[in-house]
Amino acid sequence: MIISASTDYRRAAQKRLPPFLFHYLDGGAYAEHTLLKNVEDLAQVALKQRVLRDMSTLDTSTTLFGEQLRIPVILAPVGLTGMYARRGEIQAAQAADQFGIPFTMSSVSVCPIEEVTPRISRPMWFQLYVLKDRGFMKNVLERAKAAGCSALVFTVDMPVPGARYRDAHSGMSGPYAKWRRYLQACLHPRWAWDVGLHGRPHDLGNISRYLGQPIALDDYMGWLGANFDPSISWQDLEWIREFWDGPMIIKGILDPEDAKDAVRFGADGIVVSNHGGRQLDGVLSTAKALPYIAEAIQNDIKILVDSGVRNGLDIVRMLALGADAVMIGRAYIYALATAGGKGVSHVLSLLEKEMRVAMTLTAAQRIADIDTSCLISSLQSS
Ligand code: FNR
Repeated sequence: MIISASTDYRRAAQKRLPPFLFHYLDGGAYAEHTLLKNVEDLAQVALKQRVLRDMSTLDTSTTLFGEQLRIPVILAPVGLTGMYARRGEIQAAQAADQFGIPFTMSSVSVCPIEEVTPRISRPMWFQLYVLKDRGFMKNVLERAKAAGCSALVFTVDMPVPGARYRDAHSGMSGPYAKWRRYLQACLHPRWAWDVGLHGRPHDLGNISRYLGQPIALDDYMGWLGANFDPSISWQDLEWIREFWDGPMIIKGILDPEDAKDAVRFGADGIVVSNHGGRQLDGVLSTAKALPYIAEAIQNDIKILVDSGVRNGLDIVRMLALGADAVMIGRAYIYALATAGGKGVSHVLSLLEKEMRVAMTLTAAQRIADIDTSCLISSLQSS
């Protein structure tokens, strides 16, 4: 029986997925210190219990960029989501849609933009990487706009890919990766059948559409690896603005000075993120970085945060530390891998329930009430 989004679905996903895919999802960069700290530091943010305040009416909803959200959560962009469940982007987007929160499609999705948007009623968000191939960026931006995507999440913390040693061990990358992955897929026939990607070139949606032909996973990884662009700078924002006039959210901010620059360069929001501990190991956890960033930019633009959020209590903690909303990555993908869209719906309802308990016992009736008064002061908790 699954009762926890973080541990139970993770365990179930590990059983179901071939190792190369589970570890690609679960792992982080280098020695994985930051990956661990994201979860640990957040768990140590001490909530302040308050009682006897008539909490019979609670409202977990919020408004973000003019959109109504049932809880202040957005599904984060996760590359290759369609490898975890058949047409996984559609399943996750539909679950988010039915629940009442946005889904963010990664630039490097399995399903193309146009396959997902007609199947959901609320607009999808779209995530963009800066790649050397500016033609690809322009192509996906124009298509995201045409498909009615409502917000652009511009990821800036991947000018180079972080070294993920687990991927080399597990067969996602490294020597003979193709054959190791093929062998693992054969040993996980149910996954291979369910996902429908096994044994033939994977058609990797947005990139295939751009290149005008199917692209296999190995060719895709080669294309992507050669395309990360370390020359990325704030000036690229101006170029993107030519093709995107909706809300733009800069994802991958970890420093207050960078947050101030984001405000200066006209971003509508930021995501305080270390990419789920997948880029530079040794950087601050987001729970530690967030309060300084919130202090630096006050209410100038919206502050989203991710990395390490595993349950509804964590959502309340992040809001109390200064965020307007949170993104979740692994927490929903573990469930997608285990039980498809139903799993994602289940996780969202678990998060909502857990949030309601945390709000009741910290005496926060509405999202706007969640602030540092819901936390034990750092002096007391250290
Ligand atoms: C990611 N993330 C990510 N981010 C992004 O901007 N574009 C992408 O394509 C991906 N791909 C991706 C794949 C996988 C397998 C993971 C786990 C993560 C990062 C993601 O959006 C988010 O920042 C983290 O997942 C947040 O951390 P948690 O919630 O997973 O701890």
